[in-house]
Amino acid sequence: MTLTDHDVAIDVRPLSGWTGAEIHGVDLSQPLDDHTVAEIRQALLQWKVVFFRDQHIDHAQQIRFGGQFGDVTPGHPYEGDAAPPGFPQIHTVSPKAYDERYGRRYQKQFGVNGPGWHADVTPLINPPSHSILRAESVPAFGGDTQFTNVAAAYLGLPEPLRAFIDGLRAEHRFGASYDADRSNERIGEWVRTKPLASIHPVVRVHPESGERVIYVNPGFTTRILDLDPRQSRHILDLLFEQIDRPEYTVRFKWENGSVAFWDNRAALHLAPRDVEHLATDRVLHRITLVGDTPVGPDGAPSESIAGEPFLAAN
Ligand code: SIN
Repeated sequence: MTLTDHDVAIDVRPLSGWTGAEIHGVDLSQPLDDHTVAEIRQALLQWKVVFFRDQHIDHAQQIRFGGQFGDVTPGHPYEGDAAPPGFPQIHTVSPKAYDERYGRRYQKQFGVNGPGWHADVTPLINPPSHSILRAESVPAFGGDTQFTNVAAAYLGLPEPLRAFIDGLRAEHRFGASYDADRSNERIGEWVRTKPLASIHPVVRVHPESGERVIYVNPGFTTRILDLDPRQSRHILDLLFEQIDRPEYTVRFKWENGSVAFWDNRAALHLAPRDVEHLATDRVLHRITLVGDTPVGPDGAPSESIAGEPFLAAN
């Protein structure tokens, strides 16, 4: 078993002022020593998402890499049957996989890759702490993923607005931006028969860094509690505009063998919108790590409305 040499510091190359760094000098196919794991963790805390190039690893190696940073969950709370045989932890992201999972009308409504900025599965009471996405086969151009730093976005708000949102809570619901009446679509059936929803603080305190982050997203957040619907819409739109500001984002150009590793507690991501215009397929594989229950600035934890905690895969 080869271990990464702990005397060699990893090479962290930031990609923008706030968000994202490429890490060089690490071979993800091999077990990492504690020092390297700690350095990657530190880079994640600072940059919210880190990227690796030329890592031609397989499902088992991706799962082992993730397992050095936490417990690996099943691929998706709804989609155990969609995982590749023998790898329940893998969630494959591709137009074909989404077509099979969600049905064609989902694609028509959102494009092939889902409904906008989000962190992974925030309707859970304990949304995954991290996600690791590996590119198996990507087009030569296009299909980029964007990430935004929601700690920086929070800090960029004026103080009175921060103080106001610090006290708010919001509902997150799977299928929030989807028309659940589509009875012949699998996603509509899940939303009706196995709802997944939680109340989370609008501002979450990051459990490792102590930073406050904007913890709502257009993919899953339905409403802010204790406001009337119009007020809730206005505040959410204001926050969605804030997280979308270019200064907090980074855009990642994939190559075969690229790996993105992000902190869902401090970053949102936006899947590409141009996939339908690309001639070649785009196949990536994602794993997620078990997360904890969010806590707001007042110390109050999230509350589950429907669904079970998302724990380690067997
Ligand atoms: C995801 O939302 O996890 C997939 C991101 C992507 O397709 O780039």
